[in-house]
Amino acid sequence: MPIDWNESNQVFHLYNSRISYLIQLVHGKYLAHLYWGKRVQVLQPQTILTNKGRAFSPMTEPTDPKFSLDTLPQEYPAFGNGDFRTPAYQLRTQDGSTNTEFVYDSHEIVKGKPPLKGLPSAYIEDPSEADTVVITLVDSLLGIGLNLQYTIYRDHDVIARSVSFEHRGSSTIEIHKCMSLSVDFHDSAWDWLHLQGTWARERHIERQPLSHGKQSISSARGASSHQVNPFVALLSKNSTEEFGDVYGVSLVYSGNFQASLEISPFETTRLSIGINPFDFIWVLKPGETFQTPEALMVYSAEGLGGMSRTFHHLLRSRVCRGVYRDKTRPILINNWEATYFHFTEKKLKELADSAAGLGIELFVLDDGWFGRRDNDKSSLGDWFVNKRKLPNGLAGLADYIGRKGMRFGLWVEPEMVSPDSELYREHPDWCLHVRNRQRTTSRNQLILDLSREDVCEWLMDTLTDVFRNASINYVKWDMNRNMTEVGSAALPPERQKETAHRYMLGLYRVLETLTERFPQILFESCSGGGGRFDPGMLYYMPQTWTSDNTDAVERLKIQYGTSLVYPAITMGAHVSDVPNHQVGRVTPLPMRCHVAMAANLGFELKIDQLSMEDKQEVMKQIQSYHQFKDLVCFGDLFRLLSPFEGMDTAWMYVSQQRERAIVFYFKTLATPNPPLFRLKLRGLNPKVEYQINHSEQAYSGAELMQIGLGLPLVKKDFSSELFFIKAVNGMELAVEGIQ
Ligand code: DGJ
Repeated sequence: MPIDWNESNQVFHLYNSRISYLIQLVHGKYLAHLYWGKRVQVLQPQTILTNKGRAFSPMTEPTDPKFSLDTLPQEYPAFGNGDFRTPAYQLRTQDGSTNTEFVYDSHEIVKGKPPLKGLPSAYIEDPSEADTVVITLVDSLLGIGLNLQYTIYRDHDVIARSVSFEHRGSSTIEIHKCMSLSVDFHDSAWDWLHLQGTWARERHIERQPLSHGKQSISSARGASSHQVNPFVALLSKNSTEEFGDVYGVSLVYSGNFQASLEISPFETTRLSIGINPFDFIWVLKPGETFQTPEALMVYSAEGLGGMSRTFHHLLRSRVCRGVYRDKTRPILINNWEATYFHFTEKKLKELADSAAGLGIELFVLDDGWFGRRDNDKSSLGDWFVNKRKLPNGLAGLADYIGRKGMRFGLWVEPEMVSPDSELYREHPDWCLHVRNRQRTTSRNQLILDLSREDVCEWLMDTLTDVFRNASINYVKWDMNRNMTEVGSAALPPERQKETAHRYMLGLYRVLETLTERFPQILFESCSGGGGRFDPGMLYYMPQTWTSDNTDAVERLKIQYGTSLVYPAITMGAHVSDVPNHQVGRVTPLPMRCHVAMAANLGFELKIDQLSMEDKQEVMKQIQSYHQFKDLVCFGDLFRLLSPFEGMDTAWMYVSQQRERAIVFYFKTLATPNPPLFRLKLRGLNPKVEYQINHSEQAYSGAELMQIGLGLPLVKKDFSSELFFIKAVNGMELAVEGIQ
């Protein structure tokens, strides 16, 4: 059983063969955090905590004068009764106070992992995969139970945490803050790392030393956002891509979030992540329960690379769901950058004809097929086909595409409504708004109020009709603005601050229903590119449009940064025209293909207008992609050279058996008179002989990893190279000392 409760020590030990997490019950009341990291056998856990009375740290236990909550490393700390650090939660009771006294009541250890009601979460397929402990604290005055849920996976170095508040008392309370996890580290010499950006520049890596006081990242946009990602990591100072302790936490949630860090005066570090408490109040009535989203905690002793691989395995196999989870994805063509809104059926057919001839497998019709949508000023909400553009309807186009041997995909932006739409004219109160206030538009649109059940029902029915209307195999689910005037006409005044979270619950319900109803549809989430690239969305839609920026050079950083948490199989990547529409850069076609081939390959360009030579190049690249796309989708990622550190970028994917690998190498700007350079590979079997690019010559894995692969000298900007690595049949080298 990987969760032990030791009655005499009063210690919970959650472990698998590689990691441990230790919690101690102190004075029979308080949950103290003892340890999280590499697997340990602890014989004397009760000696880990040292009580040391500190001036100005209040004395919480009259019987233990040195004990103070202010210095205790805790599991779910409160504010107001001695601990002056950042609390994990805050409740406001009917008498106006925010003081609580939650103390240990009971616990239950169960096989498996219970799902979270109404929220996405990591799952199991068999109860033997994980164990869960729910520790219940109770505030007897309020009659509220606080359930701290911890799951440890057997085969993933992951602990999943969440919290629920169960109201068994008699007076209504307000939840002002309820983080999904809080962890107190016993030291403070950390760097912290997060992913920042904006539209077309998502998930750039930022690493900096943690300093005294508080640091945080957050989104109040009603979406996880382009600007920050619901992920943060603490890294030991000497940690690198390969070595050192790294602690990563990721929130399975797509709305407002906050991650905060605080170093205390005694050099301990508190980390928390959860729903953003800013502008959030949840009213909890007697008999009701509030469930927080889930946070995934990853510990890696193998630096950032180890952390990423753990996240990748878990997200790929136990967060993503559906029939496409274990399948490589079809190569697609999307008409957006080829036509924008200005297409006719004839134009689309020409694109489809060329695409089919080159080996493309899926045709995606993007924005502009419905209502009177010829630009972004109207028609969101009017989900009926524009017969002027598509006289034979979606079904006619889909049939044509089908006859070409391709599958058909469709773009929708269901969460939105244009003020200039039939839907808005009929239901002006169906959008998020605050009565008598301006309704701020963004991209000329408003957001449907998915906190309302009637709006969700309408949306599910409408989309069901659209998806049944034609043979649709793929849906791109877009979302092109963030929330303003966050209020709902259907909620009473005291519940207005619940709107943003209720919206997410409504959206998740819609997605659950539709993905269940249409299991054959591959859903790709999108929010102006990667504005909602988070584990919550991946639970429903197993891939995300990574960024609207399709420039190959920009994409190196975006895809590299994204790979810190998210596996390649979750990233959409397209080859687009040059000069690039976002940055105006001209890069060669092979480089554009190679960058996109490091994820789910797609094309988004005037493919019918390519020269014969370029068409042949596209065909060649597609054929080559088929040889290794399983490695990209299901292999282990090793990042070798970072685009954030120079002109060279390299990464590789290695098969689970380590008998095949693919190495991607890119040089953005050429260097005059450059040094000779060897690229040290990783993740191979040192004892195995490998061939490179089908050549006769064989190299040992050790040779490729220790001495490296000689790179050609290239006198050209924007060059790229792929290396196919394959084990020579059954060759195991019996070399002394190599293991
Ligand atoms: C934003 C998306 O990211 C683009 O790919 C495209 O679908 C447009 N929206 C369409 O409006």
